[in-house]
Amino acid sequence: MKAAVCTKYGPPEVLKIKELPKPLPAEEQIVVKVRAGSVTASDCIIRGCNVTGIYKVLMRLAIGFAGPRKSILGMVFAGEVESVGKKVEGFQVGDRVFGFDRYGFGSDAEYKCIAVDRLVTKMSPNMTYEEAAAITFGGLLALHYLRKSGLRAGEKILIYGASGAIGTAAVQLAKHMGADVTGVCSTSNTEIVKALGADAVIDYTKTNFNEQGLYYDVVFNAAGKKKVILHPEKVLKPNGKHITIDDGSPSPSISDLVFLRQLMEDGQIKAVIDRTYPLSQIVEAHRYVDKGHKTGNVLITFE
Ligand SMILES: NC(=O)c1ccc[n+]([C@@H]2O[C@H](COP(=O)([O-])OP(=O)(O)OC[C@H]3O[C@@H](n4cnc5c(N)ncnc54)[C@H](OP(=O)(O)O)[C@@H]3O)[C@@H](O)[C@H]2O)c1
Repeated sequence: MKAAVCTKYGPPEVLKIKELPKPLPAEEQIVVKVRAGSVTASDCIIRGCNVTGIYKVLMRLAIGFAGPRKSILGMVFAGEVESVGKKVEGFQVGDRVFGFDRYGFGSDAEYKCIAVDRLVTKMSPNMTYEEAAAITFGGLLALHYLRKSGLRAGEKILIYGASGAIGTAAVQLAKHMGADVTGVCSTSNTEIVKALGADAVIDYTKTNFNEQGLYYDVVFNAAGKKKVILHPEKVLKPNGKHITIDDGSPSPSISDLVFLRQLMEDGQIKAVIDRTYPLSQIVEAHRYVDKGHKTGNVLITFE
């Protein structure tokens, strides 16, 4: 099978397409023929070991010193079950599945194994592989942080970084929760954020939203600490909650994935896809994601 292999940390060019043996499932695993994957901010952070200070050491301890021990990256996958291990129940060859293998990786390949007690579930009939791959990462993370924020129906939320993978999911999920949503993004993304349901959109290149005299119950920084021009203390109501995407490392559950699937099936949320690259162009895909301005998601597709 073809796979993108990362044997050392560095720029996108460290990714090399190689021919590797097709994986065989352990007793509790399925093999998925991957149809679509996603290049997420996390994939790029891992590929480049793009963390600072003590986190550089901690990440190398956890993932590998000179390069990732698991050299095929890619956390998100959507595809078709190709074979099943002896003890697998509930999945059959041909099932359309999607999921998130945050620590196992392996989706940047034509086939990947995953244990069936991990984050993998069947797709809805009306979902495409691309939609499934696009909603998973941002949807799971946005769901975690919105729940952590305690956002309630009728409350006002400011979502900073509303046009990224996490932000586009957060705008839709916050609307689904009944909140009044203001999204913050750059000029070219204002229309899409509005179309996703935001009640108001602020273009951070034109408006200093910290000084508008508007106040929110929740401020969600979905862009990350490095990009901050946000002063939560200036826009939060008394007792308001500030939550940032770089706080902690969420552990989503299978019920979260099933919940997202249901919302997709019901048309409550939709996947936002910026660009799609074939596996052979994964270096270009990483270069684009590294810029930090994708609109929603960047996908990898397979024949
Ligand atoms: N906690 C975790 O486990 C975890 C995991 C993965 C990622 N993260 C963090 O989450 C962040 C977002 O991930 P993502 O996948 O949603 O990234 P993304 O798709 O690349 O989106 C980045 C967002 O940041 C905005 N942005 C970029 N530069 C900005 C600036 N100078 N000022 C204001 N906004 C700016 C972009 O908006 P415009 O393009 O409109 O400017 C876009 O909405 C990452 O950068 C990382 O810090 C955390």
